[in-house]
Amino acid sequence: MSPELKILQMHILVLLLTLFSCTYNSHGKYILEGSAVYDPNNYMILTNTTKHSYGQAFNNVSTSYKNQSFSINFLFGIVSEHKQQASHGMAFVFSHTRSLPGASSDQYLGIFNERNNGNASNNVIAIELDIHKDEEFGDIDDNHVGIDINGLTSVLSAPAGYYDDKDGNFRNLSLISGKVMRLSIVYSHIDKQLNVSLCPAEFIVPPNKPLLSLNRDLSHYFSKETYLGFTASTGSIRALHYMLIMQPFNGLTYPPMEFGVVPTLPPYPRKASDRTRTILAVCLTLAVFAAFITSGIGSAFYLRHQKVKEVLEEWEIQYGPHRFAYKELYNATKGFKEKQLLGRGGFGQVYKGTLPGSNAEIAVKRTSHDSRQGMSEFLAEITTIGRLRHKNLVKLLGYCRHKDNLYLVYDFMPNGSLEKYLNRSNTNENQERLTWEQRFKIIKDVATALLHLHQEWVQVIIHRDIKPANVLIDQDMNARLGDFGLAKLHDQGFDPQTSRVAGTFGYIAPEFLRTGRATTSTDVYAFGMVMLEVVCGRRLIERRAAENEEVLVDWILELWEKGRIFDAAEESIRQDQNRGDIELVLRLGVLCSHQSESIRPDMSAVMRILNGVVQLPENLLDVVRDEILKGRSEKSLELLFDVNSSFATLAFTSSFISHGR
Ligand SMILES: *[C@@H]1O[C@H](CO)[C@@H](O)[C@H](O)[C@H]1NC(C)=O
Ligand SMILES: *[C@@H]1O[C@H](CO)[C@@H](O)[C@H](O)[C@H]1NC(C)=O
Ligand SMILES: *[C@@H]1O[C@H](CO)[C@@H](O)[C@H](O)[C@H]1NC(C)=O
Ligand SMILES: *[C@@H]1O[C@H](CO)[C@@H](O)[C@H](O)[C@H]1NC(C)=O
Ligand SMILES: *[C@@H]1O[C@H](CO)[C@@H](O)[C@H](O)[C@H]1NC(C)=O
Ligand SMILES: *[C@@H]1O[C@H](CO)[C@@H](O)[C@H](O)[C@H]1NC(C)=O
Repeated sequence: MSPELKILQMHILVLLLTLFSCTYNSHGKYILEGSAVYDPNNYMILTNTTKHSYGQAFNNVSTSYKNQSFSINFLFGIVSEHKQQASHGMAFVFSHTRSLPGASSDQYLGIFNERNNGNASNNVIAIELDIHKDEEFGDIDDNHVGIDINGLTSVLSAPAGYYDDKDGNFRNLSLISGKVMRLSIVYSHIDKQLNVSLCPAEFIVPPNKPLLSLNRDLSHYFSKETYLGFTASTGSIRALHYMLIMQPFNGLTYPPMEFGVVPTLPPYPRKASDRTRTILAVCLTLAVFAAFITSGIGSAFYLRHQKVKEVLEEWEIQYGPHRFAYKELYNATKGFKEKQLLGRGGFGQVYKGTLPGSNAEIAVKRTSHDSRQGMSEFLAEITTIGRLRHKNLVKLLGYCRHKDNLYLVYDFMPNGSLEKYLNRSNTNENQERLTWEQRFKIIKDVATALLHLHQEWVQVIIHRDIKPANVLIDQDMNARLGDFGLAKLHDQGFDPQTSRVAGTFGYIAPEFLRTGRATTSTDVYAFGMVMLEVVCGRRLIERRAAENEEVLVDWILELWEKGRIFDAAEESIRQDQNRGDIELVLRLGVLCSHQSESIRPDMSAVMRILNGVVQLPENLLDVVRDEILKGRSEKSLELLFDVNSSFATLAFTSSFISHGR
């Protein structure tokens, strides 16, 4: 199955699951035997704190697996008395009978006993999650998954773990870690194949490569009347065996186990004597702590002083004018209180503040950085950026460096970012929709700002992180580009802490991923995406959309080919008098966000097209399409020039090929 198909199927299943809420409760009642109980969360706990006990839980209603493929998923967890060891494990059971009478604890896992173990008339298949190595059954280790047929000697087993989809490597899992895990059991009636996968519960779909794959006709066991059950047992070391949620499915599907957060299991309950000891320890710690505090009160004032005191460094003095004192920012933001927090981004937090003397409202961005060298370069750039004054750029008032943090001080923008004005489905229903005139103006404002950064300033400044969140709206509804150059701080495109590409997913040009080099053209790419988003009022990738609408650019291209590009615009702005401009921006957006760097226009061309000074060529769709088919061949550039030379010379002069200076 292709990954896309799998994802799509997954989404459909999530929907189904939400509708039917398929927990084990809705699939017939489970009859509990032995030590099995339900806890207050309605989780099944198969064993209690008694040694050498066992528990069983069988569905009271049988399921017909006659001539059928099916898949079963459940979440489980084992909480052990000891960190390193436990006994004995649990099992998922297919049985012809509604219970397994006479089962034994310990190594028999609550399934079989000494007499019937291995008897072919048991008609039982079990998937064991075994946490104890029993030599008599040929166990491989004390942490394995096995397929058992009629007896506890596994026909197939493997150490607990999974094959990572990313690199195919095997990753160990510890069954007794107390973490919730997922077991996925799939049987293909046609292939006569049983696959079993184990993975962390956080995985939405099980790994591609199963842990165990058994080729055998098991149709006899999966008959018209099959009872599903869980069993578990303890031996001399106790453990609680949890079964949390189960989803049986007919047909070969991989249902996701998505219900918001993965539950965490409580720790193993401690005995009263243990508890007394813990309380004693806590009291002692508190007493010692109190002593510390008393002696510490005197130095508190001193410490507070230290907190706002800062060290001037040589290179800081040299960059002079824009430097704020940390104390000033500390006071302006009321000590960086949570209440002052405006937002949190990939590169840090933004706080609102008021400068004491002037009452000017500011936004203070705090970002951490530890490399001093990169910092000096960056600050050199800041002094340049700080001198930039443009009506469509958020004014950088200054900076401050304190400890490992860098603080950038900007004009405060009362209307927030463009992000919140775009239609984000259900998140902000109350937000007024922008009119087409407002949108067109925002697009032109951002284009003007970018043109200034790329071509009008004494040096080329590459923004590196153009996206709606970085476009701020001032009190007069002008758009201003913010955060320029900040991505450079986390240099060469990679943030070492997260090893993530600096920039924002969806707005990163493909060649940037290959070369790691930001250019004016990578900025144009991101700007193209922003244009499309502003017109369509939706995200670049909308997972909930129909399959062909999922990726915005692809969908627009599809509509364009059908001669219906106008339909891509958000409904509220789709009026006939806007048609010309809307279609222009959509076409230009597709051109700018084109995969192929060579056909993206530069910002002065974009500006001229937006202002109607230059027309887009008639055959633009063909060029765009050809370019997609051809990939990055240099010929295409010539084609574009040949086919419409007036367009080429007017719109894409000189800078079209050599970006930047
Ligand atoms: C555990 O379960 C067994 C079997 O039902 C029962 O006899 C025993 O009392 C239970 N132990 C605890 C501590 O609840
Ligand atoms: C189990 O199912 C049988 C019929 O198959 C029914 O008589 C019985 O009441 C059910 N027991 C429970 C506990 O639901
Ligand atoms: C199951 O398959 C067997 C052989 O393929 C066939 O004889 C039988 O009728 C089928 N049973 C059902 C219930 O489809
Ligand atoms: C297997 O179990 C059946 C039914 O319980 C019994 O009649 C038979 O003797 C057992 N076979 C062996 C080898 O123990
Ligand atoms: C996985 O577990 C096996 C057996 O305990 C051990 O030999 C191996 O080193 C472990 N591998 C990793 C990556 O932890
Ligand atoms: C079992 O896993 C194998 C991969 O090892 C896969 O090719 C096969 O389709 C799987 N079978 C089922 C029934 O999922």
